[in-house]
Amino acid sequence: MGARLKVGVVGLGAWGCNVARCLYEMPECDLVVCSDLNEARRSMAERNWNVQTVASLDEMLAQHAEIRAVVISSPAITHYPLAKKALLADKDVFVEKPFTLNVRDAEELSALAAARGRILMVGHLLEYHPAVNRIREIIQSGDLGEIYYIYTQRVNLGRIRGDENALWSFAPHDLSQILYILGEDPVDVSARGQSFIQDGIEDVVFLSLFFANRRMAHIHISWLDPHKMRSTTVVGSKKMLVFDDAAASEKLRIYDSGAQSPATCSYGEAIQVRFGDIQIPHLIATEPLKLEFQHFINCVEHRITPRSDSQDGLRVVRILEAAQKSLEMDGLPVSLHSGAVSKALHPPQTINRQWTPSLPMVPGMPVVVAHS
Ligand SMILES: NC(=O)c1ccc[n+]([C@@H]2O[C@H](COP(=O)([O-])OP(=O)(O)OC[C@H]3O[C@@H](n4cnc5c(N)ncnc54)[C@H](O)[C@@H]3O)[C@@H](O)[C@H]2O)c1
Repeated sequence: MGARLKVGVVGLGAWGCNVARCLYEMPECDLVVCSDLNEARRSMAERNWNVQTVASLDEMLAQHAEIRAVVISSPAITHYPLAKKALLADKDVFVEKPFTLNVRDAEELSALAAARGRILMVGHLLEYHPAVNRIREIIQSGDLGEIYYIYTQRVNLGRIRGDENALWSFAPHDLSQILYILGEDPVDVSARGQSFIQDGIEDVVFLSLFFANRRMAHIHISWLDPHKMRSTTVVGSKKMLVFDDAAASEKLRIYDSGAQSPATCSYGEAIQVRFGDIQIPHLIATEPLKLEFQHFINCVEHRITPRSDSQDGLRVVRILEAAQKSLEMDGLPVSLHSGAVSKALHPPQTINRQWTPSLPMVPGMPVVVAHS
């Protein structure tokens, strides 16, 4: 390997500071230049990390030809134009989540990176988290048995953004994690949410994913919640596990617990519920953001396709776009294959207040209850 990789960072906000600090501390690269529109943020970077600063990516590209990689940690709306500009300047690019704000832009960036032979990696941080990697290994080993369902909670009273809703802000983490540990894409998605604080910007979203083989996942996201929760629960036919990323230690617990299905009970035997031991695996303590950038640098140096490459980013954006569509239709399931409302194009059915069991119902379809 030659000289250390020279890197520039665009965007020095709340998260961009972590990004720049991490790259500054890593021996594998040189943080050469940072860019932010805001002068106070640039001064802070000069003081903290002794880097040169510029106001824009244009200036960075014009004044620092020596940088080979650009890390984009500016707001989501800037990801597409800035990543495109950096790729066109033949830089390798790391772009924070969400990759883009629509599928079309994600496809264009992915094709551009491929055409120019550039590395394009998306900041799906949880794919580099030691606990998530352990969960993936456990699932793949079959130790949990058949996976029945997963649910995640990413809630707190936190940063309320005005330029994107909680779905686009938080769900990329949960979605990328779920796709990564299951190794499978959902068939359709349904989302409901509410905008309490700002018109048209959902503060809380409940998102449901449906997979083949009856698997389900549910994601609860909110920046309007009294608890800080960052948790993932996986329920399998043999065992279950809980990953609590807000815990200071012992973040992952595997429960040797479950219920016997009627098919495995002998005739006349009652279904057994089993409460077994709890196992707490040892996890390496390295900061996931450092592991993520080590992976990026390794991919750049050795021209390897990143784990969270542009195709991975595209899969997540495709689900986010479908979920947004569902959100706007008050929860109607949207197919990930066709983008259409799932389960056929049935209009809402009207039923009388007395329940009519013979009525043919479509799962997830809204029902209007008539008041007679
Ligand atoms: N991976 C994670 O865990 C994680 C966590 C939080 C945020 N993020 C992502 O990181 C990105 C930044 O988030 P944040 O919380 O730091 O946002 P922020 O709003 O706090 O900061 C954004 C910064 O970018 C600057 N900026 C805006 N447009 C710019 C441009 N064209 N050129 C240069 N600078 C520009 C702004 O002046 C501001 O300082 C977002 O995409 C967000 O989704 C990722």
